[in-house]
Amino acid sequence: MAMTTDSLAVRLVNHFLSVKPLANLARQQARKMMIQRAESVGVQWTKQVEILRQRAWKIELALVENAHLDYPEYYLKPFHAYTQGNLCWDAALEVEVAAHAAHARIWPQAGAQGDAKLRASYHAALEAQLPAVPHCILDIGCSVGMSTMALQSAFPSAAVTGLDLSPYFLAVAAYRAKDLPIRWLHRPAESTDLPPESFDLVNACLLFHELPKAASRQILQESYRLLQPGGYLAIMDMNPHSDIYKKMPAYILTLLKSTEPYLDEYFSLDLEDAMVDAGFTKPSMTCNTPRHRILIARRN
Ligand SMILES: C[S@@+](CC[C@H](N)C(=O)[O-])C[C@H]1O[C@@H](n2cnc3c(N)ncnc32)[C@H](O)[C@@H]1O
Repeated sequence: MAMTTDSLAVRLVNHFLSVKPLANLARQQARKMMIQRAESVGVQWTKQVEILRQRAWKIELALVENAHLDYPEYYLKPFHAYTQGNLCWDAALEVEVAAHAAHARIWPQAGAQGDAKLRASYHAALEAQLPAVPHCILDIGCSVGMSTMALQSAFPSAAVTGLDLSPYFLAVAAYRAKDLPIRWLHRPAESTDLPPESFDLVNACLLFHELPKAASRQILQESYRLLQPGGYLAIMDMNPHSDIYKKMPAYILTLLKSTEPYLDEYFSLDLEDAMVDAGFTKPSMTCNTPRHRILIARRN
């Protein structure tokens, strides 16, 4: 079969990324471009990260870290532009500005407000579809608390817990939310050790695209266990069926995958079927942006 220019470009990019020093170079380059792009849309990356860097984080880290935690092997891979993935201060101090930069282009005019708009569109769908205000919310993959604090603000009367595998992210979350009554847990979402049926909403924003299939399935089962009968699981993440990914040149998608090690697994997992397999009702599907979707399902 003749090789197309696209498949040749993909092979070249894959070959390039298989050489470790070149892959590291590509990551550094990607990071540089991300910072430039952020600053150009009004996200003050350098200034905001510098302010965070000046803090001594020891106390926050000690308060949230579970030093005996065994990390799943898949979590120890490089993620985004960081060789140590989510387990380092660089990632923790930059994740908020990186999210603002990444979401600045969802809508052409959104700029630095893109992230806030993304979360508002999610909460609008959530509020419209939940039959009642949730009392007890678990935010899995909460990172530095952006999704958690947004949930607390959407549902002020709810008791909210944020859970993540990165103690660095959780330390930043605890600092950002110091005036809010949010509980932070350093645990894997697949085995939380929390009591069964203790939540009426489990939330996962932008978590599943970072997971291999087996972990996704385990997390769905754990979410089912944690929810009261009639409780809801709500997931907002990249939409694999969106035209944006379908039309993306293959070599750009390959570059994207070099920073998101499980994107292939996420794109080939039928998440709606996996939710049903875990015992949930068939989820509703809402496209809240040109490249994100929301899946909401009830625990029977
Ligand atoms: C892209 S971030 C999503 C952040 C946040 N929910 C938001 O909306 O901004 C994905 C998060 O999931 C966390 N994560 C990945 N695998 C996890 C697991 N098995 N258990 C708990 N957290 C996990 C990562 O540490 C990271 O903070």
